[in-house]
Amino acid sequence: MWPFDQIDRLENATGLDAVAERIKPVLETLLADQRVTDFLHGVWLGHPLHPVLVQVPVGAWTSAAVLDAVPGQQRAAGLLIGVGLAGAVPAVAAGWADWSQQDTQQQRTGLAHAAANVVASGLYVGSLVARARGRHGLGRSLAYAGYALAGAAATVGGHLAYRQAAGPSHAVPHAEIAPPGWSDIGPVEELPDGSPTLRRVEEVELFVLRRGTDVAVMIDRCSHASGPLHEGSLSTVNGEQCVTCPWHGSVFRVRDGAVVHGPATAPQPAFEVRVEDGRLQVRLPGLSMG
Ligand code: FES
Repeated sequence: MWPFDQIDRLENATGLDAVAERIKPVLETLLADQRVTDFLHGVWLGHPLHPVLVQVPVGAWTSAAVLDAVPGQQRAAGLLIGVGLAGAVPAVAAGWADWSQQDTQQQRTGLAHAAANVVASGLYVGSLVARARGRHGLGRSLAYAGYALAGAAATVGGHLAYRQAAGPSHAVPHAEIAPPGWSDIGPVEELPDGSPTLRRVEEVELFVLRRGTDVAVMIDRCSHASGPLHEGSLSTVNGEQCVTCPWHGSVFRVRDGAVVHGPATAPQPAFEVRVEDGRLQVRLPGLSMG
C-alpha cells in the first residue's frame, strides 16, 4: 500500500551505496574507541540505546505540535522544539554507531531514515529562527512540516527495526525452538579440547567449548546478526574466557553468554550442562521439563 511499498524499495536502492561508502571511513575514525561504541550501542544497558534516546525528540516535538495549536503557547512550543533538537544529538550518535555495523540493505534504509531526520531537524531550526524574528505563523508551519517529516523518518526506522530485523536478538529465535528438557549431544571425550565446535540439538546450532572437564554451551548464532560463533576467536577478558563473533566483532563471555563488547546488546542464550555416563547433556533454562 502506498506509501509503505515505497519503503520496501529503499533496501534495494543501490544508488545509496556510494553515499554509504563515503560515510563509513568517517564513522570508523569517529567510532574508533571501543568504550564509546559500546556505550552508544547500549551494551551497558543490555538493549539498543538509540530507540531509548529518540524518546526525547519525539516527545518534545509532539508536545510542541500540540502547544502550537493552543493560542498564546508559541513560546513554550519553541522551547520544546529546542529541547527536541538538543535531544536529537545523542540519538543521532547512537543511530550512526548502530548503522556502522549493519548489512548493506539495512544501511540503505538507514540512510533514508537519517536523511529524513536531517531535513526535519533543518525545518525545526528554521522554525526557531522564524519565531525569533517574530514570524510565528511561518515558525508554526515549518514546525508542522518538520513533525510530518520526523514521523515519516520514524516509519522508515520502524521498517528497519521490524522488517529488516536491525536491533532484535537473532539468537532468541534459535533458542525458542530448542527442545525442552535435557538433550544428549554426544560423548564429552569426542569434543575438541580448547577450541570451539559446532553441535546440533534437532534444528538448533550450538556453540560448544570444552576445556578439560569444563564444558560451556550456548546458541551458536550471534544475537547481533546471526554470525556463527563457533568460527570466532577465543580470548580472555578480565580473567573470563570469551569468544569474538567473526562478523562484526561482538564479544561474549562463554560461561553465560553475557555481552562484553558490542555491537550486540543481547546476551547469547546459554545452556545448563551435565555429564551422564560420559555423554554431554544440555538444556536451556526456562524450557526444562526433565
Ligand atoms: S553477527 Fe554482528 S557481531 Fe555477530
